Amino acid sequence: MHHFQQSEKPAWGGKVADLLGTRLPVILGPMRLITLGKMAAAVSNAGGFGQIAASGLEADNLRQELKIARELTNRPVGVNIPVYRPNAFEAIEIAIEMGVKTITTSAGNPAKIMDLARSGGLTVIHKVSSVKLAQKAQDAGVDAVIAMGYEAGGHVGRENITTFCLIPQIADAVSIPVIAAGGIADARGVVAAMALGASGVEMGTRFVACKECPVPSFFKDGVQAAQCDGTLLLGKEAMPIRVLANSLAMAVSGMQKGDGAASKGEGQAAVDQAMTQHGDAAYVMQGGNKDSAVMPCGQIAGLVSGEPAAAQIIAQIEEQVAVVCRALGSFFNCA
Ligand SMILES: Cc1cc2nc3c(=O)[nH]c(=O)nc-3n(C[C@H](O)[C@H](O)[C@H](O)COP(=O)(O)O)c2cc1C
Repeated sequence: MHHFQQSEKPAWGGKVADLLGTRLPVILGPMRLITLGKMAAAVSNAGGFGQIAASGLEADNLRQELKIARELTNRPVGVNIPVYRPNAFEAIEIAIEMGVKTITTSAGNPAKIMDLARSGGLTVIHKVSSVKLAQKAQDAGVDAVIAMGYEAGGHVGRENITTFCLIPQIADAVSIPVIAAGGIADARGVVAAMALGASGVEMGTRFVACKECPVPSFFKDGVQAAQCDGTLLLGKEAMPIRVLANSLAMAVSGMQKGDGAASKGEGQAAVDQAMTQHGDAAYVMQGGNKDSAVMPCGQIAGLVSGEPAAAQIIAQIEEQVAVVCRALGSFFNCA
């Protein structure tokens, strides 16, 4: 159990908050070259779990961002490590060396890193997109899974399963805690995820348009202007990624559909190769503009408006959760 200052409101914490050492089981979705020390600290200071995305950071940059976070908060801050990237082991060693208690892993088999993580006493939470991958992660010994649906921003599973279907099936199939990701941006989403069997949530798209988020303003504007059909899935066969539908995404998507000279198969192969090799180069944090940048974004963007501080987003969710629960209690006559 973790103890918090008296002035803080009691929370709906539960087992995920206990695992993370936070007041609330609300996780900042790691975002490559976006969720760095400052943003992670802002979310942790608000009672959530901030994390630094290790993807795309050299060893010294990762150390530096962890130092920045440490200077801004004494609350837990995590590191997200895509397991398939060549620097995964080095990033875990840095997390251990810098006193991190919890890492989240994604994109790869967590079994590869468990020995190293455990040698440093790390809690490991792995991101999955199917029941089978959740069971595999549990067998590898992870402490919890983040179940991420197809509506999420960024890389999604190849299985195309929505959060609504994924959460209850994974919750039934594993005994470790399940954290829901994909399509959650307000208290309704949080309560729904908990009703489906999750005991925590992770949000990415909502936090892209928050005050502390260091993305170019055209990206924040794009997320706020997007409707629920404002995203596209690219790189469907290799590593699918959901992005804002700008000119670049639409051109690539056209290739996917096999428009032009290439046959469908050739078009798909070309897209997959382009996304894998050049996706990082065109990524929004490497430059570009609203038409030319790859901007990962989820379908819930249609619900995102304004640019509140991270703490306001979390405070509003906390306040509204009570309202939603009261309304449900009265609707179902079980208050
Ligand atoms: C711009 C952006 C970059 C992302 N980069 C990563 C990443 O580096 N590693 C990762 O595990 N997930 C990444 N994600 C996924 C988020 O961590 C989170 O799971 C997802 O955004 C949740 O779905 P939502 O967008 O509907 O809230 C990214 C998402 C976005 C929007």
